[in-house]
Amino acid sequence: MCGIVGCIGSSQAKDVVLEGLKKMEYRGYDSSGIAIINDKLRVYKKAGRLENLLEEIKDKPMDTSIAIGHTRWATHGEPSDFNAHPHTNEAKTIAVVHNGIVENFVSLREMLIKEAGVHFVTDTDTEVIAHLIGYLYEGDIQQAVWRAVEMMDGAYAIAAIANDNPDILVAYRKDAPLVAGFNDTGSFVASDIPALLKQTKDFYLIENDEMVVCKKDGITIYNSEHKKVDREIFHVDWDTEAAEKGGHPHFMIKEILEQPKAISETLSRRLTDDNKINLDGISLSLEDIEGFTKIYIVACGTAYHAGLVGKYIIEKFAKVPVEVDVASEFRYRDPYIDDKTLFIAISQSGETLDTLAALREAKSKGARVLSIVNVVGSSVARESHDVFYTWAGPEIAVASTKAYTTQLVCLYLIALYMGRLKGTMNEAYYIEIIDELKKIPDKIDELLESRDSIHDLANEIKDRNSFFFVGRGLDAAVAYEASLKLKEISYINSFAIAAGELKHGTIALMEEGTVVVALATQDFLFDKMLSNIEEIKARNASVLTVAKNDSNAKNYGDMHIMVPVAKDEVMPLISVVPMQLLSYYVAAERGENIDQPRNLAKSVTVE
Ligand code: AGP
Repeated sequence: MCGIVGCIGSSQAKDVVLEGLKKMEYRGYDSSGIAIINDKLRVYKKAGRLENLLEEIKDKPMDTSIAIGHTRWATHGEPSDFNAHPHTNEAKTIAVVHNGIVENFVSLREMLIKEAGVHFVTDTDTEVIAHLIGYLYEGDIQQAVWRAVEMMDGAYAIAAIANDNPDILVAYRKDAPLVAGFNDTGSFVASDIPALLKQTKDFYLIENDEMVVCKKDGITIYNSEHKKVDREIFHVDWDTEAAEKGGHPHFMIKEILEQPKAISETLSRRLTDDNKINLDGISLSLEDIEGFTKIYIVACGTAYHAGLVGKYIIEKFAKVPVEVDVASEFRYRDPYIDDKTLFIAISQSGETLDTLAALREAKSKGARVLSIVNVVGSSVARESHDVFYTWAGPEIAVASTKAYTTQLVCLYLIALYMGRLKGTMNEAYYIEIIDELKKIPDKIDELLESRDSIHDLANEIKDRNSFFFVGRGLDAAVAYEASLKLKEISYINSFAIAAGELKHGTIALMEEGTVVVALATQDFLFDKMLSNIEEIKARNASVLTVAKNDSNAKNYGDMHIMVPVAKDEVMPLISVVPMQLLSYYVAAERGENIDQPRNLAKSVTVE
């Protein structure tokens, strides 16, 4: 997602826009730009963080009373000065900022090249919008935007200004967020409220297919029939910080709650209507895949835990041996690698030095490198042969949540793709798993609706100081992630172990007051887990059982989290969510700094 912002009337329009971009960096921050009109239309834009743009414009003539700006989270097209917004028409008399996607931009581009001889300089859909408005412009920017949006398919929010119309700023909304605000200096538009809170607390919430015409003395909203609309003023009493979190107390809970949408996004743009998997142009042919004799999945922290799930599902679906390793170990153990090795790096930030170094080691030994990354154009992405983006949107909280679940979705898609191509998965089983994945967002929503019960459990155990997370099979993989979540935000000593391993020493630690979270979502291992729960109960520890809501798990253990039923193979996508919530609420009740835990950084770019 990206952020757009516009201002007209205020003599500080440039500063209003830059302030808005700063407040929307959580929406995306890999490049940014601003367009103003003074003696002419001026456009400045830079890759990288906002400070790069500030440096670029610091000695430029920026006095103006009309400006639009953009902060980008690239999904298509590397972060670069060129791809950054605003974009202009060839005559540089129209500037546009855009959040969303124009689905028919290719056909529009072809029309503009053919009909108007336009020369494109980027591969972005946004540049098409600027040329289209310029092509349709006959002196009235509002009419040109009307005609343009009637030709544009997709989900987008745009703002446009024209050199010879400096008294009007036009914005339009179609299935992407847009708000308009005003005060006694002028009027404003933005992707969302945080961008403008410093200017006003009075907003118009713009609805789909509506145009906003901003002038110094006010705002007019038009509906799809081009009729003026009267809109109630929406007064907000959020402070700026709360607004960036969408009204939530922390980015972490906001990002936990975003998971259904993030997973839908990660799935929907890769599954065709006939359930084929589009791997984003990743060229893994049958010959390539059959040629792999070994797959390494290498990562750190939460990304490593996603790899543990990846191992199970790739081996089960694609029948190829998978070894999972923490990057800091992999790079120093002289692993056996040749040109029949597939090396999968997983990294939310794409800048984790241990993972990057491991990737370079594998590449130097001839491995094919595929990375699963959230930040477009990051180092890990750039140094891989193929990249599979998670499209989770910016993840701000240090504790990773939506990046983990979208990493899992990418691993499921890769495993399914390989299994189907190799024929190691029959069609029926392949379709069954795809159908299960499609149901995950709704099942997570169902869980999130009952999160208060998990908050109650957190209150019961928040003062304990010894936690174990245990499970078998895929539940063991989730147990490691659950344990890390608790450790890193509540600072409670927590330990994860395969349940079957307890009796080989660790069970000596069990005593009254110990909390053991037993994940028991795998039907074929359920009875084994019940035995483990009984063993633990016999040592007077407290057991919190996590199981499918059609099981009889409530007869075992002291506390219970019952989760929606799904096939065993996809349960990690469901069972991890109550674990994220449990850790979040324990840390919240303990008053910890949840989004920036002590000693931690969002991206560990040191060894
Ligand atoms: C996860 O909650 C932690 N913030 C940390 O373990 C993180 O997953 C790890 O540092 C890897 O980061 P990356 O995914 O950006 O490479």
